[in-house]
Amino acid sequence: MIEYNERAFALHGDGFTCLLRINEYGLPELLHFGDPVTVEDAEALRFLPGLGWGGSVLLKEGDPASCADTMPLVWSGCGRGDYRESPLELDGVPTDFRYKNHAITDGIVPMEGTLPQAKGDCQTLRITLTQKNLELDLYFSVFGGVLTRRTVLRNTGTASVTITKIMSAMIDIHGQYRMTTFNGGWIREMGRHDDMVGESRIVNESVTGASSNRHDPGFLLSDPDATEESGRVYGFNLIYSGNHYGSAQRSIQGFTRILQGISPSNFRWELAPGATFETPEAVMAYSTEGFGGLSHKMHRFVNECIVPEHWQYRARPVLFNDWEGCMFDFDHKKLVGLAKQAKALGCELFVLDDGWFKGRKNDFAGLGDYAVDRKKLPHGLEGLSKKIRTMGLEFGLWFEPESVNPDSDLYRKHPDWALTDGFDPLLGRHQLLLDLTLPAVRDYIVENVSRIIDRCGITYVKWDMNRHSIALGRKAHDYILGLYEVLGRIFHPRPRVLLENCSSGGNRFDLGMLTFGPQVWCSDNTDPIDRLTIQGNRSYLYPQSTFGAHVSAAPHAQTLRTTPLCTRGNVSFFGCLGYELDLDHLLKIERNEIIDQIAFYKKYRKTFQFGSFYRLKNGWQVSRKEYHIAGVFRTLTQPAPPYETLRLRGLKREQHYYYCTRGQRLRIGQFGSLVKHVLPVDLNPNGAVLRTADRRITLPDGTQQGHATGAALQAGLPLIPNFRGTGYDTNQRTLTDYGSEIYIIEEDWDSGKIR
Ligand code: GLA
Repeated sequence: MIEYNERAFALHGDGFTCLLRINEYGLPELLHFGDPVTVEDAEALRFLPGLGWGGSVLLKEGDPASCADTMPLVWSGCGRGDYRESPLELDGVPTDFRYKNHAITDGIVPMEGTLPQAKGDCQTLRITLTQKNLELDLYFSVFGGVLTRRTVLRNTGTASVTITKIMSAMIDIHGQYRMTTFNGGWIREMGRHDDMVGESRIVNESVTGASSNRHDPGFLLSDPDATEESGRVYGFNLIYSGNHYGSAQRSIQGFTRILQGISPSNFRWELAPGATFETPEAVMAYSTEGFGGLSHKMHRFVNECIVPEHWQYRARPVLFNDWEGCMFDFDHKKLVGLAKQAKALGCELFVLDDGWFKGRKNDFAGLGDYAVDRKKLPHGLEGLSKKIRTMGLEFGLWFEPESVNPDSDLYRKHPDWALTDGFDPLLGRHQLLLDLTLPAVRDYIVENVSRIIDRCGITYVKWDMNRHSIALGRKAHDYILGLYEVLGRIFHPRPRVLLENCSSGGNRFDLGMLTFGPQVWCSDNTDPIDRLTIQGNRSYLYPQSTFGAHVSAAPHAQTLRTTPLCTRGNVSFFGCLGYELDLDHLLKIERNEIIDQIAFYKKYRKTFQFGSFYRLKNGWQVSRKEYHIAGVFRTLTQPAPPYETLRLRGLKREQHYYYCTRGQRLRIGQFGSLVKHVLPVDLNPNGAVLRTADRRITLPDGTQQGHATGAALQAGLPLIPNFRGTGYDTNQRTLTDYGSEIYIIEEDWDSGKIR
């Protein structure tokens, strides 16, 4: 709800108010962004300058309150006395925009171009500022627990204007904050970094042409002592897939200035007379319930206002993907065999990854072409898809439409379609990008991908992009606008096709891509121990429904670490579950375990995919309606480990619950020479008998179950002890390195009666 009263605006969302006023100088001043207040508080919440600050440049001589440099603002100028970082730079021309008018509307104000936008119930405030022959619209939309912001610059004059920097949002919030950013690279996405914001600027930026695996566009600002459950936390993100910029810097007045938008690095845009420039939409949220509370607001927003309407809270299929199992080495027979097995395990969707088109024996050739490799697939994609669909599986396909290998028919015919910079072409993964700013290139992609989707009955597309861009400046932004046009033309008329975005794993995990497809391949790293970091840190800003999470073979292709199959499943449950390994090589005991995993996941699928997500001290929890599921994850085993508790969250204190372990099996081989103490016969740990036994026989791990109130479970359920070097027993757990287990907690409707 947006209130307006004598030049003050109160933007009320769930649990927050953003209070603004147009001050005496026509500048948009931020009075407050935080706990709910009313529009009547505007006067009380002003920071008054007294006799002013030394070294001030004044907008009105003699009036110490007129120093723009010391005001908390939501938009500032440059070259006119505010020496803090400016959200707008016009190639050396000063900016000094002042209030012109405003409007409040129900719903969003649609953008004119192809940039994606949040959708849903909201109210929008537009404040228009002006200077000479320019107008600037600041948009603020309140969606439940989230505020979005964007900027539109209009050239109303007769000469063109050069934009070298234009942000989506700027805000000055009072206080001292810790900034959390998420950084990494290929197979190491989303490392968390915390820095105190001081008077030197902290910048979170990507310049690779994509939102990037190096720096996620989203970041957090929190009270230095905020925890998962308490303290003030602000969250920021951007609905954009290209080069992004976020910065934070504190002034001596104690205001932290935060900027969000397209990266200004090498940015240059000529704004012709009569033209407008729209920025991407920025997202802001605020919580007093710590990092957990902030994540819940962001999750809800993504699930309800970002992902395509058809997929909002719609269950995602359990998929099988052939990539890690086969890479480029497959044919029709192999795929049909895998599909049969995937179906028997319980998978619902079969995805054929890279390598299906002509010339694609490896990653040196073929990108850009769409003719199927008839040697591998003599019945074509149609034949394969038909075969798979008659088994009762859906069929999905991998594409990498934005790229071209120099060794391809497309490149030989249209070398000019590749993105170039006037220098010798530089290859990344042996490929170039196509120039999506060219209409002919966009048409070529739209026609080919659409034709194949329609002809082959495809219900899932994995859209990959495996190299960084070389585009700079205007071209980099135009490329993203072109990409959005292409995605819109293909997927808007086909809302039921499930689009999973991918870019060498998580190189383009962002809110922009999520408006076209509801999930993203989190990382090419499928090692579950690394996924604890990758998925765990993504969960600060993105819901688990957006995570592609697959069980793969161990030792892992990315780390050579060997992890138990149960942990691979247990970590992948907290996302959109898939399997990505050569099923031909599975042992029967592994097959049985996977059958159990998939059946269990399907039973609680909506809880896993859409439940409220909690980061616990020793794992994760999801909660939906009367179901709560916790995963407890161990990295390295400790000798004689202390008692461990499971502190659940979000339960009803008075409610009675039934809890139990999911139950897992242990491989005999993990006991090594101790096995002779477990089995009745004396076996050589290196002998063939034990090797065979390890492949066939499993032992039950200890389980626990019982009843307790929500209050007790939140206080901390003591878990049965873990292996302490004193023997195997089903009254204790036997979690070794990288072990994990799952607990199910359900409301017990026979409250009080022990079953
Ligand atoms: C990228 C993706 C992988 C796979 C390969 C295929 O690396 O992230 O999942 O699709 O490309 O070449």
